Amino acid sequence: MRKALIAANWKMYKTPAEAKAFMDAFLPLVAAHTRDEIALFPSPVLLAAVIEAAKESNVAVGAQNIHFAEEGAYTGETSVLQLKALGATHTLIGHSERRQYFAETDEIVNQKLHTALKHGIVPIVCVGEVLAEREAGETGGVLKRQVTRAFGGVTAEAAKPIVIAYEPVWAIGTGRTATPEIAAEAHRIIRAEVARLLGAEVAASMRILYGGSVKPDNATALISQEEIDGALVGGASLKPDSFAAIVKY
Ligand code: PGA
Repeated sequence: MRKALIAANWKMYKTPAEAKAFMDAFLPLVAAHTRDEIALFPSPVLLAAVIEAAKESNVAVGAQNIHFAEEGAYTGETSVLQLKALGATHTLIGHSERRQYFAETDEIVNQKLHTALKHGIVPIVCVGEVLAEREAGETGGVLKRQVTRAFGGVTAEAAKPIVIAYEPVWAIGTGRTATPEIAAEAHRIIRAEVARLLGAEVAASMRILYGGSVKPDNATALISQEEIDGALVGGASLKPDSFAAIVKY
């Protein structure tokens, strides 16, 4: 019922030439793939080239971040209108690295979510606990708080395009993956919170991805969990063969 989405977060990696080489190798590997949606999230300087390369393909392209304002005096930032004009269709919002290194709060995440929805850009809202929170037994509370604050003021109707990515911070870039059972348990908490906020129907159709050290050899076990509707992949998405293998989990 929920079509899985397999997303590549390239973070601050690749030159335009490297992105082009990735596309040349990757697109043929997944050209016949229809079971899952595929999306790439390159850094802003690569977007034009990657969008051009992905034209007429089954691969969507989005941004890793947007500003909440549509335009303005915000040096170094990228607006949703600029991204849309370029042909980007998705954006990550509130990735843990944005929260951790760029002081993004739940309130900023909420503003960005409204901006993305207003302009028809599919938002992937990232949530997840840090290790100390998990060890203190606070995971459920943290996830509920992040989801509730991110979704503030969003109606059930407006929420339909939203995708959530559960990314336990202790699993990102560490090689330490949540077990499928741990991930599924967090996904159940998140889905129940969405149901409480927006109703059972919206919650049942909302895709919740898992992210954090997803690799070709653990993708099947994770994504085949009933609760897990795809993956947000960092390190293992940088090589065409590796990301294609995850897409074809
Ligand atoms: P990772 O990153 O796959 O390298 O752990 C995931 C992410 O940060 O989205």
